[in-house]
Amino acid sequence: MPRPILIDTDPGQDDAVALLLALASPAELQLLGITTVAGNVPLELTTRNALMMVELAGRPQVAVYAGCDRPMVRPLVTAEYVHGKTGIDGAGTPAPTTEAAAGHAVDFIVQTALATPGLTVCTLGPLTNLGTALERSPEIGDNIEQIVLMGGGFFEGGNTTPAAEFNIYVDPQAADIVFRAGIPLVMMPLDVTHQALTSDARVEAFKALGNAAGGATAGMLEFFERYDMERYGTRGAPLHDPTVIAYLLEPELFGGRQCWVEIETTSELTMGMTVVDWWGLTNHEPNCLVINQIDDERFFGLLIERLGRLP
Ligand code: BDR
Ligand code: CA
Repeated sequence: MPRPILIDTDPGQDDAVALLLALASPAELQLLGITTVAGNVPLELTTRNALMMVELAGRPQVAVYAGCDRPMVRPLVTAEYVHGKTGIDGAGTPAPTTEAAAGHAVDFIVQTALATPGLTVCTLGPLTNLGTALERSPEIGDNIEQIVLMGGGFFEGGNTTPAAEFNIYVDPQAADIVFRAGIPLVMMPLDVTHQALTSDARVEAFKALGNAAGGATAGMLEFFERYDMERYGTRGAPLHDPTVIAYLLEPELFGGRQCWVEIETTSELTMGMTVVDWWGLTNHEPNCLVINQIDDERFFGLLIERLGRLP
């Protein structure tokens, strides 16, 4: 039986590749819907980009719901300097022919969770939609088996401020609600995503698939790489968000540790920091599986094989 999942996202080239991976894997993942949030670019664009990906994957029947257009408390911060003006610069994908589903993403998350015991929620962007849903209807937590999220960083530090990773920095109040909700969490922080780097050979492999999804992925990665290569002096860029979907498909590619994790919501200096009790220094029971190891060869192998199944 495929696992029922929701994906909450702010595409973003790496979000787009994560969506393609999930859309290419219907035998394992029953994608009940995609919800969008403001993050890498404003909501109108993240929604448009998600629609483009379901069409590119040949699965326009997967509903896309637009969600929150700004964080719960703080003003919106976007990242066009990483992702370009559209959020998926480089994709070269045609404009969507379909529209977002009627209704708000937060309502869709609440209704879907209430109707789906054993639901997995995947978040690839700021946690505004899920935080709002949990604040409004905390009982949905009873039906959510796990939340798998890309966000945070600990030993690796931050990528938006010295202390904070982008997804958590943009909406720390929402992240705080999610981390305190008592729902099993799996976190893919920068510590692991910075080991999943693109390379010329990997980009070429997407190109060589010869399908539209492979071409769009290669184009997006070529655009997306340039920022991180310059910033970190690496030969490729971290492919953050697809690690979330890969974890659901092949968890044995990853390793980590159960830890207590708290979100900084008050200090401006460290706002949005994910404070991980890696060494068990507090008396808190762990609330999160913090991933810090990946088999990057097999991760890219999985991505290339799955995207090869798409049109
Ligand atoms: C995260 O922020 C965004 O730029 C990416 O899409 C990813 O979700 C990495 O910090
Ligand atoms: Ca993202």
